[in-house]
Amino acid sequence: MPHAIRFHQTGTPDVLRWESFEPEAPAAGEARIRHHAVGLNYIDTYHRSGLYPVPLPSGIGLEGAGVVEAVGEGVTGLEVGERVAYAGGPLGAYAEVRNIPAHHLVTLPESISFDQGAAMMLQGLTAQYLLRRTYRVQAGDTILIHAAAGGVGLIVCQWAKALGATVIGTVGSDAKAELARAHGCDYPIVYTRERFAEQVRAITGGQGVPVVYDSIGADTFMDSLACLQPMGMMVLFGAASGPVPPFDCGLLAKMGSLFLTRPTLFTYAAKRADLVAMAADLFDIVAAGKVKIEINQRYPLSEAARAHAELEARRTTGSSILLP
Ligand SMILES: NC(=O)c1ccc[n+]([C@@H]2O[C@H](COP(=O)([O-])OP(=O)(O)OC[C@H]3O[C@@H](n4cnc5c(N)ncnc54)[C@H](OP(=O)(O)O)[C@@H]3O)[C@@H](O)[C@H]2O)c1
Repeated sequence: MPHAIRFHQTGTPDVLRWESFEPEAPAAGEARIRHHAVGLNYIDTYHRSGLYPVPLPSGIGLEGAGVVEAVGEGVTGLEVGERVAYAGGPLGAYAEVRNIPAHHLVTLPESISFDQGAAMMLQGLTAQYLLRRTYRVQAGDTILIHAAAGGVGLIVCQWAKALGATVIGTVGSDAKAELARAHGCDYPIVYTRERFAEQVRAITGGQGVPVVYDSIGADTFMDSLACLQPMGMMVLFGAASGPVPPFDCGLLAKMGSLFLTRPTLFTYAAKRADLVAMAADLFDIVAAGKVKIEINQRYPLSEAARAHAELEARRTTGSSILLP
């Protein structure tokens, strides 16, 4: 019987269990995928810890790449044997095989491996909408991205650089600063040691930046606002240090008529046409060699708990995958 990681209560990584299950035939509109690789994402830790509540017991994981094994009634445009990848859908990617609504799947081009597909769909599609839609980065812009050496971070650095931006990035160590620099980050700032808002002001000659991409949340939010130029956009897209406490909107006025958004990939990719266009944009920039997907950690799927512990302890860089 195939195996999957499930959890019956929220908590630390040791709540994750490796369980066998009897696969069901795909329902109408679904496809069964045999995973070759599964993506590890920070959001998985929010589901496991209870920060984002889900009904229990639950599967976990939102990203994978593999081969279509069977399709349910009414599924069109998808063949058994096709190479596919996805980001989203019901939780349950940490599994050897799974059923998933077929509309979440995109065909994986031959030039993209299963490992790359599993590593880049969620983080790469996120980089796509952040840089191309939430705030559309233009050549000549100077932007700030937090956790620049992380999964989303390394992709954003490279992509923003390819768009002609100057990239300021925060990182947790000197080694991460070097890694970010090698991926297009012009000014890495070790924010565990330096005050990043002061550094950003100095780098921009006091002007501030038009956009901050902040996935750290509680620890960085106020200082991120202080980095913005008038009418700048604060893009709060994660909470690696915990959620931002309730906030006085009047501060947006006082700090320069700022914009604040809290976007999620799942809104931006909700329409099938958007998902397909976003994936095409991502595949193109990777195929062009402008964005390299750095898979710096690989774990057996059964050891997902260890992967979560390392991700939360800030011991990973770039992208991580789980291998069935
Ligand atoms: N809204 C969306 O659509 C969306 C989609 C994808 C991801 N995200 C968010 O984007 C962020 C990055 O995701 P990812 O999967 O690529 O993870 P990641 O960046 O590879 O890992 C998280 C990084 O956050 C930094 N960090 C800072 N304070 C931390 C703390 N107190 N605890 C743990 N880590 C801390 C660490 O880097 P340093 O050591 O360099 O500080 C750590 O490596 C996450 O917040 C995630 O939720 C949002």
